[in-house]
Amino acid sequence: MKKYSIALIPGDGIGPEVVGATVEVLHALTRRLQTFELAFEEFDWGTERYKRVGAYMPDDGCDRLRGHDAALFGAVGAPDVPDHISLWGLLLGLRGPLQLFANVRPVRMLPGMQSRLRDVADPADLDWVLVRENSEGEYSGQGGRTHVGQPHEAATEVAIYTRAGVARILRFAFETARARSRKRLTVVTKSNSLRHGLVLWDEVAAEVAAEFPDVAWDKELVDAMTVRMVARPRTLDVVVGTNLHMDILSDLAAALAGSIGLAPSSNLDPTRANPSLFEPVHGSAFDITGKGVANPVATIWSAAEMLKWIGEEDAAAHLMRSLETVVSRGETTPDLGGSLSTNQVARAVSHEIANT
Ligand code: NAD
Ligand code: IPM
Ligand code: MN
Repeated sequence: MKKYSIALIPGDGIGPEVVGATVEVLHALTRRLQTFELAFEEFDWGTERYKRVGAYMPDDGCDRLRGHDAALFGAVGAPDVPDHISLWGLLLGLRGPLQLFANVRPVRMLPGMQSRLRDVADPADLDWVLVRENSEGEYSGQGGRTHVGQPHEAATEVAIYTRAGVARILRFAFETARARSRKRLTVVTKSNSLRHGLVLWDEVAAEVAAEFPDVAWDKELVDAMTVRMVARPRTLDVVVGTNLHMDILSDLAAALAGSIGLAPSSNLDPTRANPSLFEPVHGSAFDITGKGVANPVATIWSAAEMLKWIGEEDAAAHLMRSLETVVSRGETTPDLGGSLSTNQVARAVSHEIANT
């Protein structure tokens, strides 16, 4: 039987709650299918470790993950550590160095979910794949501070866009669009005001588009894109854009589709030189940590994306069917109007897996 090794990084806040729930569901799935095994190795990387030994993860953290087929991540961030320390100490310290350059965020309504948009009645009206450049751009980490503490203190935050980095994410996005039935791609930039890097994006988009004559593509400026997502959701299929633009648009998309508690994401190294990392879009949610009410759906859905990526498509489909059935019955956490706890949702999904 095939055996995959999966790194678990539960992290902070509700991370351990939603990852724990997801692991329970994955156990139910492998028990039911008996076609492959998952061996989990859990890493204690996070704020508790930072406070103990001064680092969110060991120096060779990326190498340790390289021994695994994939990683499942919860969340990082704590109320008493500055967010830029925690995020660069762990999540951003993995995405860049592991060259997880494609962040894929599917957005669609699960059965029974209500969109906040009045004219989205049919699930097909809101069915997008957001592709986020995940290794450079506004998140390049370059910059610094001068005249520290002085009234004229200055800071720079330099966005870096490389031709190679832009071309590889655009090619990935065109391929993603080509694989879908509607074969449409919208490239988001802001090349009216950002006249260097985002003009490069526009130029490379036109070049890469020539390789994909079967994909219909258009461009949208990011400000206008927020309006289009709300006013004309049906005109969108696959959307690609920079690291920061797609970070913001993906939270908006999650809210339009129902709840941030549903939104999954994949941080992919499409070359497969490194293991890819799968995580919910949401963060560590201090306000609900420890209350047992965190919605595990985003993490369970992320795990289904992980199964697809490692080649277990049938298992992923079985998992998604079971998840959708449970959600459509209204067996949800309070953010979706239900009254179940995190663990009760996991149990319901596991039960559905076992019985279908
Ligand atoms: P957040 O996503 O943690 O929370 C935003 C709101 O959504 C909160 O009201 C929260 O209760 C709710 N929410 C989030 N996930 C939910 C779930 N699964 N079920 C039900 N409700 C849910 O975003 P934030 O408040 O901006 O950030 C909190 C911390 O998390 C910060 O330290 C931030 O830097 C970090 N963060 C980490 C990640 C990550 O690890 N990938 C992502 C975003 C934010
Ligand atoms: C996300 C998160 C992260 C990001 C933060 C926590 C660094 O918001 O995955 O969307 O901006 O990438
Ligand atoms: Mn975000």
